[in-house]
Amino acid sequence: MESRNDSWSRPPLLLLLLFCLCANVSISLGSDTISANESLSGNQTLVSSGGGNFRLGFFRPGNSSFYYVGIWYNKVSVPTFAWVANREAPVTDPSTAQLKILDGNLVIVNGSSSPQSTLWSTNLSSPGSSSAQAMLLDNGNFVLRSHGSNTSRTLWQSFDHPTNTWLPGVKIGINKRTNRSQLLTSWKNQEDAAPGLFSLQLQPSSEYYIYWNMSEHFWTSGTWDPQGRLFSLVPEMRLNYIYNFSFVDNENESYFTYSVYNTSILSRFIMDFSGQVKQLSWLETTKQWNLFWSMPRQQCEVYRLCGPFGVCSETTDNFCQCLQGFTQKSPSEWNLSDWSGGCRRVTNLSCGPNKPANLRNDRFVELTYMKLPENPQSLGVEGTVGCQAVCLNNCSCTAYAYEDGTCSIWTGDLYNVQKYGQGNSNGKTLYLRLAASDVPESGNKSGTSAGIIAGSATAAAAVVLLAIVLFGAWRWRRAAGRSSTSQEGSLLAFGYRDLQTATRNFSEKLGGGGFGSVFKGTLADSSIVAVKQLEGMSQGEKQFRTEVSTIGTIQHVNLVRLRGFCSEGTRKLLVYEYMPNRSLDFHLFSPSNAPLDWGTRYQIALGTARGLTYLHEKCRDCIIHCDIKPENILLDAEFCPKVADFGLAKLMGREFSRVLTTMRGTRGYLAPEWISGVAITTKADVYSYGMMLFEFISGRRNSQQSEDGRVHFFPTLAAKKLAEGKDDLIELIDPRLERAADMDELVRLCRVACWCVQDEEKDRPSMGQVVQILEGVVDVTTPPIPRSLQVFSYDENQEHIVFFTESSSSGLSSNSRSNTSTNSITQ
Ligand SMILES: *[C@@H]1O[C@H](CO)[C@@H](O)[C@H](O)[C@H]1NC(C)=O
Ligand SMILES: *[C@@H]1O[C@H](CO)[C@@H](O)[C@H](O)[C@H]1NC(C)=O
Ligand SMILES: *[C@@H]1O[C@H](CO)[C@@H](O)[C@H](O)[C@H]1NC(C)=O
Ligand SMILES: *[C@@H]1O[C@H](CO)[C@@H](O)[C@H](O)[C@H]1NC(C)=O
Ligand SMILES: *[C@@H]1O[C@H](CO)[C@@H](O)[C@H](O)[C@H]1NC(C)=O
Ligand SMILES: *[C@@H]1O[C@H](CO)[C@@H](O)[C@H](O)[C@H]1NC(C)=O
Ligand SMILES: *[C@@H]1O[C@H](CO)[C@@H](O)[C@H](O)[C@H]1NC(C)=O
Ligand SMILES: *[C@@H]1O[C@H](CO)[C@@H](O)[C@H](O)[C@H]1NC(C)=O
Ligand SMILES: *[C@@H]1O[C@H](CO)[C@@H](O)[C@H](O)[C@H]1NC(C)=O
Ligand SMILES: *[C@@H]1O[C@H](CO)[C@@H](O)[C@H](O)[C@H]1NC(C)=O
Ligand SMILES: *[C@@H]1O[C@H](CO)[C@@H](O)[C@H](O)[C@H]1NC(C)=O
Ligand SMILES: *[C@@H]1O[C@H](CO)[C@@H](O)[C@H](O)[C@H]1NC(C)=O
Repeated sequence: MESRNDSWSRPPLLLLLLFCLCANVSISLGSDTISANESLSGNQTLVSSGGGNFRLGFFRPGNSSFYYVGIWYNKVSVPTFAWVANREAPVTDPSTAQLKILDGNLVIVNGSSSPQSTLWSTNLSSPGSSSAQAMLLDNGNFVLRSHGSNTSRTLWQSFDHPTNTWLPGVKIGINKRTNRSQLLTSWKNQEDAAPGLFSLQLQPSSEYYIYWNMSEHFWTSGTWDPQGRLFSLVPEMRLNYIYNFSFVDNENESYFTYSVYNTSILSRFIMDFSGQVKQLSWLETTKQWNLFWSMPRQQCEVYRLCGPFGVCSETTDNFCQCLQGFTQKSPSEWNLSDWSGGCRRVTNLSCGPNKPANLRNDRFVELTYMKLPENPQSLGVEGTVGCQAVCLNNCSCTAYAYEDGTCSIWTGDLYNVQKYGQGNSNGKTLYLRLAASDVPESGNKSGTSAGIIAGSATAAAAVVLLAIVLFGAWRWRRAAGRSSTSQEGSLLAFGYRDLQTATRNFSEKLGGGGFGSVFKGTLADSSIVAVKQLEGMSQGEKQFRTEVSTIGTIQHVNLVRLRGFCSEGTRKLLVYEYMPNRSLDFHLFSPSNAPLDWGTRYQIALGTARGLTYLHEKCRDCIIHCDIKPENILLDAEFCPKVADFGLAKLMGREFSRVLTTMRGTRGYLAPEWISGVAITTKADVYSYGMMLFEFISGRRNSQQSEDGRVHFFPTLAAKKLAEGKDDLIELIDPRLERAADMDELVRLCRVACWCVQDEEKDRPSMGQVVQILEGVVDVTTPPIPRSLQVFSYDENQEHIVFFTESSSSGLSSNSRSNTSTNSITQ
């Protein structure tokens, strides 16, 4: 009866008028107003009149045993709370608590005995008359008004007291008269609405900071650029078709607010308990909130996310883990993705504040590919042996590192430790102090006995000994992992060790992307393969195998063939045929390469279109690629194009759109429907393909920054030239080709590109039609200039309008001007 569904799905009953405590009359359900002498209790709710968008009442988040009074989305099937009143004083039984107007204030009271205890109050200094009314509006605002004879005065409104959600119309900023900051504060975790550690606050410099515990800020939006209508470090806003942001700064207040152009789109900003600000929109087709960006982009950039002695990793499902030798301080909080409590030692150190140093009982464990903790103390100690000795002799020293000739030690709790993927060049080695009993016995590579650090001679011997042990362990592991490859359908199922051997321990990296790095490998039959290490897989084992075997059955001359896979626990790898001529971006954009001639470009465009047609139309289940860009078009020895990474969208699931929309460099290819939150169809691929065609023509990234800092967006230029019917299309072509191009083909390619990037999906051709046009079977007319390209057009005389600098900078090998990548500030 108390399941949270009670407040969600069942229609309100009108029988509750009899449900009456004290002198108050319970309100009739379905109403949007509480008047004086009325109260709301138990499972009663208010529904906003107008559109019925919001509902107010007692709710219980998830499996929490506490109830809050709050506002939630009424038309959304996933419980989504937009505002909470009694964040710090929840109730255990909503039937004994009431929301009512008492002496002109809105209050929540509890208990049947009199006087009831007040859990929450609007605390008005000059409460209105007893005839005040509280009304839930259809924009989600809960307003307390006093009604005079002919006036209605707003005494209080929930929009002035936002919690974690920034609804359209809410101001987030500063009241200069009272110096009161109106900010967003995260929940503590998904079941606890109490104010959490993270808050979003406007600074006097008109930029937003995300604060940790109201003290340290670790992310900034950059300052507001009124001309570009975006925050300098959130270039994603450029592709925003949904929100109308405005910044107001006058003598009374300074704030941002926003409205939604199309009010039928449900969209919200939240300060999430994960420490990220997120922008989500509701997708009715999938019945999910679709995340289309979050800041900071990487979860592990959140300050102290994993608490003391926690370690963050982007490649594990739930980001935080405990360092070796440590265990979760509060498993129940960790279960709710609240990692801030961190970890504690399994075994206390024998050496401690009140204990003498016992050199024999503490050891150091070696952790590789780490981002070192915050606040190191740098010491002028030479050599790793000396560095270890210093740490060992200081009882409060918990870890040390010796990198680039510098000895760093840490005392006390370790924060902001991060684990990078194998082979990451930023990775450092950290030596963590543990009780000897928590360090696996010798023979294991990671245990270094601390006791042997008596003199450097012994130490040197130890290093040699360790090397021998390590080498032995490595050989043993190699031998033990022999030949676990098996055939599974048309695919080979590899053991992880096989792939380690094949890639010589992932030593030759071919490339990397949002979903993982790719390494070159040689199989036992001496065929060369490309091994992709998937990161952030959220799929279960069975689903993974199902998806992979589906991908394995898809074979076409213009698609990269999947040869096998490896699935061992969280280790998921895909093994593809190897493409000797790498990816298309390498040939199109790299100045050190000979330019592809026109004929080759045209054939690549056609081949790519054929591959995509196969995915869209010829497979048993239509496959939307979702990430078409030059990096995903590979070239074989004959420069025949092959589309890579198809099927990953489904394989990676939720993770895919997260990576896609937070990744630098991809956005320029993303169709507008990715941003507006409607369902994605094959036409999204057509759009990306069109954007890519423009690059075939120009031989450059679509957006380019010129010497004077202006940014040129090539598709806008090309679309205009086409529309003007100018005969000088040849001017558009890659200057390195010196005008050597077939004019008919050039016109066709330009027109197809421009049709593909039309705003409306229905105006874009299918990939099958694209093939026919490029083959010359079907003719095509001149397309209109897409609206989005008009938006992106710029006045050549205005210096400050910048488009796509972020996405272009990642592709410009020699562009040192853009430094937009410094998007996080850690103090
Ligand atoms: C609301 O609560 C009352 C009393 O606790 C109960 O009888 C009624 O069934 C509930 N209504 C709904 C819709 O759950
Ligand atoms: C509320 O109740 C009190 C006493 O029960 C009564 O005097 C007062 O007129 C009522 N107010 C309204 C607005 O009904
Ligand atoms: C509540 O608990 C049940 C069983 O413990 C679990 O299956 C369910 O997913 C939980 N719901 C939420 C929202 O956490
Ligand atoms: C509310 O009142 C009930 C019944 O009097 C009591 O059991 C409960 O502890 C109270 N809760 C709070 C949060 O005061
Ligand atoms: C109202 O005032 C009380 C006592 O001063 C305080 O404890 C409470 O937090 C205030 N409530 C709100 C919502 O500000
Ligand atoms: C009511 O309205 C009239 C005319 O609009 C105005 O003169 C009068 O002052 C108002 N009364 C109050 C109490 O505001
Ligand atoms: C608000 O803060 C500013 C600067 O910190 C200060 O000059 C001003 O007096 C403060 N105003 C109030 C009302 O506290
Ligand atoms: C946050 O700051 C308060 C004091 O401002 C401090 O008492 C509290 O321990 C801090 N929280 C954490 C998790 O460090
Ligand atoms: C955006 O909002 C501002 C301020 O609210 C308003 O003046 C402007 O007309 C809006 N623009 C559009 C296109 O709706
Ligand atoms: C600032 O507040 C004062 C007093 O409420 C008001 O008269 C003035 O118009 C306000 N200024 C602006 C720009 O809103
Ligand atoms: C607003 O969005 C809805 C749903 O996505 C769509 O059906 C409608 O056409 C849109 N309206 C406008 C004016 O774009
Ligand atoms: C945490 O979750 C795991 C698995 O979901 C469960 O076995 C464990 O009991 C939970 N721990 C706590 C403290 O809730």
